[in-house]
This record gives sequence, C-alpha cells and structure tokens, in this order.
Amino acid sequence: MSARPHVLLSVAVSVDGYIDDASPQRLLLSNTADFDRVDQVRAESDAVLIGAETLRRDNPRLLVNSAERRAARAAAGKPEYPLKITVTALGDLDAGLRFWHHGDAKLVYTTDAGRTRLGDRLTGLAEVRSLGPELALGALLDDLGARGIGRLMVEGGTRMHTAFLAAGLADELHVAVAPLLVGDAAAPRFVGQAAFPGGPAHRMRLAGVEAVGDVAVLRYLPRVEAEN
Ligand SMILES: NC(=O)c1ccc[n+]([C@@H]2O[C@H](COP(=O)([O-])OP(=O)(O)OC[C@H]3O[C@@H](n4cnc5c(N)ncnc54)[C@H](OP(=O)(O)O)[C@@H]3O)[C@@H](O)[C@H]2O)c1
Repeated sequence: MSARPHVLLSVAVSVDGYIDDASPQRLLLSNTADFDRVDQVRAESDAVLIGAETLRRDNPRLLVNSAERRAARAAAGKPEYPLKITVTALGDLDAGLRFWHHGDAKLVYTTDAGRTRLGDRLTGLAEVRSLGPELALGALLDDLGARGIGRLMVEGGTRMHTAFLAAGLADELHVAVAPLLVGDAAAPRFVGQAAFPGGPAHRMRLAGVEAVGDVAVLRYLPRVEAEN
C-alpha cells in the first residue's frame, strides 16, 4: 500500500478562537503578508482540501495566486495548481461554485448516497469518488496516497479540522492568530467538541512561532508529544 500523505491543517483564528463571525460575509482574519504565506504553503502542497460547507458558504477559488510560485511548480514538473479536493457526505454541491471553474484537477470524496445525489451535476468539472457507505478519513488518505499525493493541506472548516484531529490524522498544524476579538458565541470556532487523542493531557510539540506583520503564526505537531 502507498504511504498516506503528510497532512497539514491550516487555520486563521481570532484571539478569542473564532474562525469567522456570524454574519453572511466571510470575516478576513489574516493580513496581506499572511495570505501570501498561506499561498506559499498551498504552492508546496500536492493537494488542498476544504469541507463542503466552506465551499457552499464562502465560494472560494482555492488557488495558488502567485504567478512565480505557479511557474516554479511547472518547472518542477508539477501541475501549476495543486489538486483541489472537497468532501461531502450529502452530495449537495452546486456546479456554479467558483471552485470548479478555476485551477487544475478537482476531486470530490463522497459516500454512495452522495454520489447518487450528485448524479451528473459535476461531469466534466470534477472526479467524484465514493468511499462507500461511510466517509472515513483514513480511506480518503489511502486513496490520496495511491494517487501519489505526498502533501495534503486542509484549510477547514470547523468540522473538517475537528475530524482530522479527532482521528489522529493531522501531522502538522498552522494556527495564524489575528489580533481581533469576535466575541459572538454564534460564530464558528476552529474546532468543535470531540474526543481528541490523549485529551487535554496530550501536549502537542510546538515547532515554530513567527510574527507575520500583526499576525502570530504558531506551528504545532499534533502527533508528537511536547518536550518539557
Ligand atoms: N478562518 C479560517 O481559516 C477558515 C477556513 C475555512 C473555513 N472557515 C469557516 O468555517 C465555516 C464552515 O465550517 P463547517 O464546520 O460548517 O464546515 P466544513 O468543515 O467546511 O464542512 C463540513 C462538511 O464536510 C462534509 N463532511 C463529510 N465527511 C465529513 C467528515 N468525516 N467530517 C467532517 N465533515 C465531513 C459534510 O458535507 P455535507 O454537508 O455536504 O455532507 C459536512 O457538512 C465557515 O464559516 C467558513 O468561513 C474558516
């Protein structure tokens, strides 16, 4: 069996731990330099994944924006853009979303029921791959490994990040802390309730701290115990 990809979770949070506010417009937490840092991490990834709810709500294009980075990828024999992935159990995805109409290859992981629901809607826009009756992230990573994906970047949202962390499948975590307070319990948080491996007794290894303008970027290794 092929090795599973290295899984990097990336998120921007407010100082009080929110990843958005409760309004319909997306709250921009990062600054320009930090968005550029994220662009670099995308460019270093073979695939970038977001949950179906982020796709439906934020309608992102999920691209490498820098022409230089795309040229460097092409010069290294890679596609200009990483593979774009979304995950849906229900299969309720609109073909008009921007995600399908920018970048290179797109892949949808779903269930048998989700594939039936999607029908022909994404024909010509994305490959639709059912993982069976259930959507297990281990099976998803096995499938990506078999496709030669070495580095996977997961960009949210809450349920997607929670699922990877709860399953013990995240190798690296980048948390960009923006200097603002959302202060609304109705707003989404970085992760939801879950039984995380080791619970609060498990201290993740801190791998780096960097100031990117007014944003603090923290790098953790969730599967490695802290050295104390
Ligand atoms: N600040 C940031 O860095 C950042 C980044 C990304 C997103 N966000 C925010 O996050 C919010 C959306 O988060 P969310 O939790 O509602 O949605 P999400 O994590 O983006 O997507 C959840 C959806 O993923 C699908 N799914 C399938 N299998 C799953 C599994 N095993 N585990 C988890 N999800 C699975 C389901 O889709 P179906 O319903 O189709 O079955 C589920 O509804 C938005 O407000 C967005 O702006 C913030």
